[in-house]
Amino acid sequence: MTPQASMLSTTDNQKNAPLLIAKQLNKSVRLGERRLDIIKNVSLSVLAGEFVIIMGKSGSGKSTLLGLLAALDYPDSGSIELDGKLLNTLSEEELAKIRQSEMGFVFQSFHLLPTLTVSENIAFPLDIAKAPDADRVQELITAVNLNHRKDNLPSQLSGGEQQRTAVARALVARPKIVFADEPTGNLDEENAKQVLNLLLDLRKDSGSALVVVTHDSALAKLADRVIIMKDGSIEDSSLQNSQIANAAKREVEI
Ligand SMILES: Nc1ncnc2c1ncn2[C@@H]1O[C@H](COP(=O)(O)OP(=O)(O)OP(=O)(O)O)[C@@H](O)[C@H]1O
Ligand SMILES: [Mg+2]
Repeated sequence: MTPQASMLSTTDNQKNAPLLIAKQLNKSVRLGERRLDIIKNVSLSVLAGEFVIIMGKSGSGKSTLLGLLAALDYPDSGSIELDGKLLNTLSEEELAKIRQSEMGFVFQSFHLLPTLTVSENIAFPLDIAKAPDADRVQELITAVNLNHRKDNLPSQLSGGEQQRTAVARALVARPKIVFADEPTGNLDEENAKQVLNLLLDLRKDSGSALVVVTHDSALAKLADRVIIMKDGSIEDSSLQNSQIANAAKREVEI
């Protein structure tokens, strides 16, 4: 094999290798005498650069699953591997480092730091990783069209502007994977569309994998794969584009 050919195959392998592998995840909570199983034997993987949507009716376990995948919460059993690192075996400090350098997050309720300006919020992941990059921050501010608001605090912004800030912050450090939990749940249709387009555009630029919980079947049509949750389990994980519209309809009926 020529050196170029071997380089090519390595790149291709990396591209097709799972970035995130979750095996047999279980999570339950205690409610008085009763144990409530919220996540039951969930296994899934996400490829590098893949865009995965998680759908399912309210209470089916989507947010809990996302929290486990993003190592924001611990499973009772099961394992999560990100880029070859077994997250279960890491200390809180090591996990925090991985969250900072390899993951991005967008939540329904924005979760911006209230005392930092737009530009400081976007810069935050780079600053805590001790890799400040003013040019990259400015690039993101421009990309999400917030130049005129960059010195404002989150409380002085509209919902759409806050979520555009959160999207820029999630992608500024070019993370390997971005998790978003109903990122447009608090926005009107126009702002929702804008935020989603930005998320997808910026992801193209950073090559990040994207795992999004949403009820939006229009967004689901753009995904590489849709996973449907039901009662804490994965009901279907291999939906192709042609099946997504039906699944979205079913989500309403389930
Ligand atoms: N800490 C907790 N204590 C008790 N029950 C919990 C806890 N966290 C989640 N649950 C329950 O687990 C189930 C799954 O919750 P989860 O928030 O993951 O659902 P979801 O699919 O994200 O719903 P939604 O679409 O409404 O956001 C729900 O029945 C919820 O009430
Ligand atoms: Mg939820």
